[in-house]
Amino acid sequence: MADVFEKIAQIKEEIKGHVVSNSEELEQFRIKYLGTKNILKGVFAAIKDVPNEQKKEFGQKVNDLKSVAQTKFDELKGEFTGSAKAEKDEVDLTLPVDVNRPGGRHPITIIRDEIVDIMSRIGYSVAEGPEIEDDWHNFTALAMPDNHPARDMQDTFYVQTNPDILLRTHTSNVQIRVMENQEPPIRIIAPGRTYRNETISARAHCIFHQVELLYIDKGVSFADLKQTLLYLSKELFGPDTKIRLRPSYFPFTEPSAELDVSCFICNQEGCAICKKTGWVEIGGAGMVDPAVMEACNIDPEVYSGFAFGMGLERIAMLKWQINDIRLFSENDIRFLQQFEGL
Ligand code: FA5
Repeated sequence: MADVFEKIAQIKEEIKGHVVSNSEELEQFRIKYLGTKNILKGVFAAIKDVPNEQKKEFGQKVNDLKSVAQTKFDELKGEFTGSAKAEKDEVDLTLPVDVNRPGGRHPITIIRDEIVDIMSRIGYSVAEGPEIEDDWHNFTALAMPDNHPARDMQDTFYVQTNPDILLRTHTSNVQIRVMENQEPPIRIIAPGRTYRNETISARAHCIFHQVELLYIDKGVSFADLKQTLLYLSKELFGPDTKIRLRPSYFPFTEPSAELDVSCFICNQEGCAICKKTGWVEIGGAGMVDPAVMEACNIDPEVYSGFAFGMGLERIAMLKWQINDIRLFSENDIRFLQQFEGL
């Protein structure tokens, strides 16, 4: 009987001292000790010759052997595949570096920087305001008091614990913050992120970007607004660009207008982008309402001014013919790489 116990001890030593140097040897180990016809089964078959009082001990020893074999296999597999992986992942420091891939700016950043650059050439400087805003700066001071129907034009995200705090629905809050703190003449451009509780689709998002222009001084007229928008449109879309202003409504400007630019994709011949009209809408504008100036302690009898606001995603979509606004926030590297170098 001692023979069978000795055999078990011998196999155990064999297993423990086993080494493999490739996947084939690893597989041979598995077949020999853990496969369907493994040698442990042959050892176990000897149980019929083991005296009854030793059967229990024998069974335990064979089970122990099985688990030693399994542990050893896992260990060898880990070691072997680990070193194979390390070999695969090893960095070849002699490879040349791809100097042509330094990364790039996001398309929205490209458009923002371009507009800031265009406007800074005619004396506008960048102003910023908070994205988490109070009701006064986002609505009330912009001539939209509580229950004003125009509030429905912009579905709002409120901060749950305080109905006075919200995520700004437009960059027009910066108009108020600047007018409250600065004496005219004021000439600012305010780019930034805005939020609306809207269903996400190919054309609308709940997070997007706007840029706001504000010019307040003595004797500013609608003609100045039109000329400024013509300058911006030509710089942005090309020197042949024409503009048209359509009457519109915003509570904080009077009169108000919608800005259309001539379709630069089809040269006004009619295409899907301009929906065959020859014109594409890019933003809203108007003369700052005297009530808004008064709310900011600027005398509308002395000063006048204009404001303009537009969506940056909209401009980027037109400029690069991008048909889905969701692409801007998905961070798909294949999309973003197309803007490298711009
Ligand atoms: C405004 O937000 C006004 N504050 C603009 C303004 C400023 C008018 C100054 C007068 C004076 P409106 O809600 O139309 O207006 O939004 C302006 C632009 O933001 C739109 O033309 C569009 O390009 C963009 N926009 C609005 N909602 C979304 C949205 N859900 N997703 C993407 N872009 C949007």
